[in-house]
Amino acid sequence: MKRMLSGIKPTGQLTLGNYIGALRNFVNYQDDYEMIVFIANLHCITEYQDPEDLKKNLTDAVALYLACGLDPNKATIFLQTDVHSHAELGYIMACNTYLGELNRMTQFKDKSAKGEKNMTAGLYTYPCLMAADILLYDANYVPVGEDQKQHVELTRDIAQRFNNKYGETFVVPEPLIAKVGARIMSLSDPSKKMSKSDETNKGCIYLLDDLKAARKKVMSAVTDSIGIIQLDKENQPGLYNLIEIASALSNRSMEDIVKEFEGQGYGKLKGYVADVVCAELEKIQTRYHEIIESRQLETILKEGAAKAAAIADPKLEEVKKKVGLEIKY
Ligand code: AMP
Ligand code: TRP
Repeated sequence: MKRMLSGIKPTGQLTLGNYIGALRNFVNYQDDYEMIVFIANLHCITEYQDPEDLKKNLTDAVALYLACGLDPNKATIFLQTDVHSHAELGYIMACNTYLGELNRMTQFKDKSAKGEKNMTAGLYTYPCLMAADILLYDANYVPVGEDQKQHVELTRDIAQRFNNKYGETFVVPEPLIAKVGARIMSLSDPSKKMSKSDETNKGCIYLLDDLKAARKKVMSAVTDSIGIIQLDKENQPGLYNLIEIASALSNRSMEDIVKEFEGQGYGKLKGYVADVVCAELEKIQTRYHEIIESRQLETILKEGAAKAAAIADPKLEEVKKKVGLEIKY
């Protein structure tokens, strides 16, 4: 069975974008692949997080993983810091990455271009840690949203370079980007990605949003004045995004949805999208509350970390030997 690995960085509450672009796919893959998913908590602190908020967001993220349908009997689910090899291999990967490569990473480039102050060294080297996250497990595939593709490509380069220098060690992973929903856009500004750091709070639907609030966000989504329901991503990006969201959640094709609403007003379509979104959120939220109350999270994470460490720790040992760091006989 091929191995698949992915992670989410819960610097805030998980969003509908995370669900459609990532989580939902993890759930679909868990039957056909050996699935490893983790909460990338080390990645969270590349920017300051209030410790209490972080703790809450991490707990909610685990509960939401399960609520969305990840099954700990099928997938390995754990917290990144519970497996120490991540940080250690992350450092070794940083020693096999060039500054030029990190300078080219768009996430970093965008932030520096915006003149963001107080950027940390952790933020800069984060793709090295991400490479370690993946390579520790010899993952064949990494299902991610569009924004992470560049990081997986860098991981491939680092893996190949390491293999050439030190001999065959790492599986070179492939990014896996879903055809529908790889980049869900903000409802209030369809030129931007739907993101946890949405300042207005109007463009982003959170998985734990109150259903009424979520409906309101869909109903007031920015569209256009063209007034025709069709698929024109360039000229009607807001409308396209709404249809894409509905398509991803209902498993209907975008064309099929357009056919149903052709010739009708945007309000009708928005109502349908809101229904689909709210039905999905309600299902997730019901399970989320059951899981939080059942108090199983600690046990699940402990078992997950043990399973993960059984793969990751020997890999790190192999790397240290190959690099010449070990003096054991
Ligand atoms: P992050 O929340 O940045 O840790 O992202 C976790 C996963 O969700 C990654 O695979 C992202 O590519 C994916 N993701 C985040 N935001 C979106 C979005 N707006 N549309 C699609 N995928 C997303
Ligand atoms: N960097 C990813 C994000 O921000 C999260 C992440 C960390 C990840 N390590 C990973 C995703 C390894 C896939 C594989 O979304």
